[in-house]
Amino acid sequence: MFFRIILLFSSFLIYFQVSAGNVVVCKDIKDCKTCAESYIHVLGFKEECRWCIESKSCGGPYSCPIGKPFIQKDPFKCPIPYRPASGKRYTDALGRSIYAVAIAVRDKNITSCLGNVRPDITLTKSYEVECDGAGNLCKGLLAKSEEAKAIYVSYKGSTFGKQVFAELLHGLTAQLGAWEKFESTEAGVITYFHTAFYRLFIDSGMKDDLLELMKKHKNYRVWLTGHSLGGSLATMTSLHLVKAGEIDKNRIRLITFGEPRTGNLAFAKEVEDNVPFRYRVVKKNDPVTNMPAATPLNMLTTSLYNRQPLHYRYMVHYNGPMFKGESFKVCEVSDDSACRNVALSDISDHTTYFQIDQDDFVKNGCPRNELI
Ligand SMILES: *[C@@H]1O[C@H](CO)[C@@H](O)[C@H](O)[C@H]1NC(C)=O
Repeated sequence: MFFRIILLFSSFLIYFQVSAGNVVVCKDIKDCKTCAESYIHVLGFKEECRWCIESKSCGGPYSCPIGKPFIQKDPFKCPIPYRPASGKRYTDALGRSIYAVAIAVRDKNITSCLGNVRPDITLTKSYEVECDGAGNLCKGLLAKSEEAKAIYVSYKGSTFGKQVFAELLHGLTAQLGAWEKFESTEAGVITYFHTAFYRLFIDSGMKDDLLELMKKHKNYRVWLTGHSLGGSLATMTSLHLVKAGEIDKNRIRLITFGEPRTGNLAFAKEVEDNVPFRYRVVKKNDPVTNMPAATPLNMLTTSLYNRQPLHYRYMVHYNGPMFKGESFKVCEVSDDSACRNVALSDISDHTTYFQIDQDDFVKNGCPRNELI
């Protein structure tokens, strides 16, 4: 029996090898992965086949209607069906209950804010450090809920205004390829996030305290969250913990809000390989989630392709104002361009997730009925 399985497996590999790679015509290929790994020779030149996402068909190097998303060269971008096990689905109610923790970290008195919006949660400790050379502060918290059997890690990100943040990210696009190595040889993140992560999570003692908390509550899940830059830090933290062998990856729950493209293609792959429960919530035309901009695939050489900024799955996209119980779409391809109109941009979408104005919410004492 065992050998039969081996035999079956190796014949599958052989079949796979002859079916991908150099093919005579692209259009006979019926699946995205094989299509993305195949090429044809045109007048002696190697030309990659292209998978058109909308028509679900494979074609030559110039197929797919202009402006429509397609996949070429790398099967990573192929859709992965969203079929979470029961209890692992994203729901609007779940998003709201976690967003409460993402927002509470903004309050000067986190205990008082959590006491109103999530009374089951108690703050363990908060951390605040200068996260760059310009005096901007980054803030994070550790908390827990006995009722939810959960430990929470939440990041505020920076104190600078949304305009400055947008400009910062725009500026970063210009340094395409200048990634800071993170948790693997190929994976890279934006330098600013890299510095902020080490200062806030590692150097401030937050990591040591978290490990202590995890040891004390071995059966608690670890929820990581944050808005904007805070979302990037949450994602980096989850990857760091798994890669450092500090946590069983199935214990992690990652939900970020308005997260920019934190890292490059290899980073996105690492996150998908190491963090099984992960949702990136995006409100409508939030422009920060489209920064730094990804260059259209067909304009890139292979080495540039590997260095481009790229999102990980699964984006949860709300295409409306995010009222309570509003429906959303879960995007099955890694980056967002196939699932939302990335050409549209409205900065107010970045700061009004779940119809909550972050600053007003905190100022009013984090009223639970407005969010949950
Ligand atoms: C924060 O809020 C709590 C609960 O409302 C209160 O007991 C505490 O004194 C406050 N702390 C500060 C520093 O204001």
